Amino acid sequence: MDGLQGNAVNQAKDTRSHINLFVILVASIAAVAGILFGFDTGVISGAILYIQREFQLSATLEGVVVSSVLIGALIGAALGGRFADYFGRRSLLIITAIVFFLSTLASAFVESIDTLILTRIFVGFAIGIASFTAPLYISEIAPPKYRGMLVSLNQLAITIGIMLAYVVDTIYSQHADAWRWMLGMGVVPAFILLVGMLFLPKSPRWLILRKRHLQAQKTLAKIRGTDDVNQEIESIKNSLSEKKSFKLLFKKWLRPALVIGLGLAFFQQCTGINTIIYYAPTIFKFAGFESNTVAILATSGVGLVNVLFTIIALPLIDRWGRRPLLLMGVTGMTLSLLILSIAFALDAQAVFLKWIALGSMVLYIACFAMSLGPIMWLIIAEIFPLEIRGLGSSIAVSASWAFNGIVALTFLILIEKMGSSGTFLLYGLLSVIGIFFVYKMVPETKGVSLEKIEENLRAGLPARELGKG
Ligand code: BGC
Repeated sequence: MDGLQGNAVNQAKDTRSHINLFVILVASIAAVAGILFGFDTGVISGAILYIQREFQLSATLEGVVVSSVLIGALIGAALGGRFADYFGRRSLLIITAIVFFLSTLASAFVESIDTLILTRIFVGFAIGIASFTAPLYISEIAPPKYRGMLVSLNQLAITIGIMLAYVVDTIYSQHADAWRWMLGMGVVPAFILLVGMLFLPKSPRWLILRKRHLQAQKTLAKIRGTDDVNQEIESIKNSLSEKKSFKLLFKKWLRPALVIGLGLAFFQQCTGINTIIYYAPTIFKFAGFESNTVAILATSGVGLVNVLFTIIALPLIDRWGRRPLLLMGVTGMTLSLLILSIAFALDAQAVFLKWIALGSMVLYIACFAMSLGPIMWLIIAEIFPLEIRGLGSSIAVSASWAFNGIVALTFLILIEKMGSSGTFLLYGLLSVIGIFFVYKMVPETKGVSLEKIEENLRAGLPARELGKG
């Protein structure tokens, strides 16, 4: 059967290398989910100042308000996997947009801190589900040759969402109901996602999973812009050979996918990205930028660099491949973390420190945006077998939210206990391990069909070879 499947995959290659406007449009609309993600994780950095003032929050309660989205996202990502396989990726994104819209609206009108926390947990719940469903959906409609770029539109949307959050925070900072406006603006992307998703097709791979073959054929023909899709349909069908999906998780041959997914989630978060995204103004102040305004301006600069370098990365992911970008990017992140650590250790020369801090943070963000930023989401959406793609990717993505929460909660404590230099050294050392992890474990999946990756996984190939053509 493997041979047959391999044949089908080869013959299907031609029809799958086309990209058309329809696919780009579908991927772009699904990627609006990324804007919600970025907006809502970023917006709280400004809003919390006003919430704190209005409700006179203790430091602990302030931490709970900030991390309530992360807690909700962890729950959403953990529960959502089964929903994605059961309801389908498109329907789940529609439901998510509705939950997101309603809870965002509610969060802007609450009168007590308890209800604010509750509504933010719901917002997080929706983000958690959308965070893995959108890349999954895009990976299943994309032609292999352009899958990297199309799935990474989601990461581009995340970075744009973060930028928009910084802009909205600045615009409403003088408003009487500042935080209500800041949080409430999230309804705009939620509404766009909701309306947009209503017009998009269901994932043909999911339709085959639910045995709706005729509908799958029609949908795929529309997406590929040709009726000649039989080979691709056959190879997707062939990849559905086992029945008990949950049990697949414990199969030995699935282990490499779990190790790659969990490992990338760990290194994406534990090399400190969100200490910069959430705390950049604080770090800039540690480094000697005294005024709030300058610190916030420098933060917007970091947000902009994040967007720009994600745009640069998009075409390279399918041209250079995942591994070279990851290896170069994580090496650059390591260097900038080590420079940052040394700069903080030599704080006697404080004049230079702030510029070195700014320079190394910009380098760090640029390297992240070209490597672990987009590629973690991409590979997680690629490596799990169709039957448990929803469940598998939700496990890896929940782990990412859990690591995200741990880093966000421990960062300031680490700074207090180990100092800025020690803390960045720690992230730098984790990045060094990250380079080895990528080198040893991460496969090159550039241009390979999802069915071929699955075939390699089932054949027991080691992690690094899962993308063999
Ligand atoms: C990460 C987020 C991070 C963002 C920054 C995403 O890929 O998962 O935690 O805030 O990138 O661009």
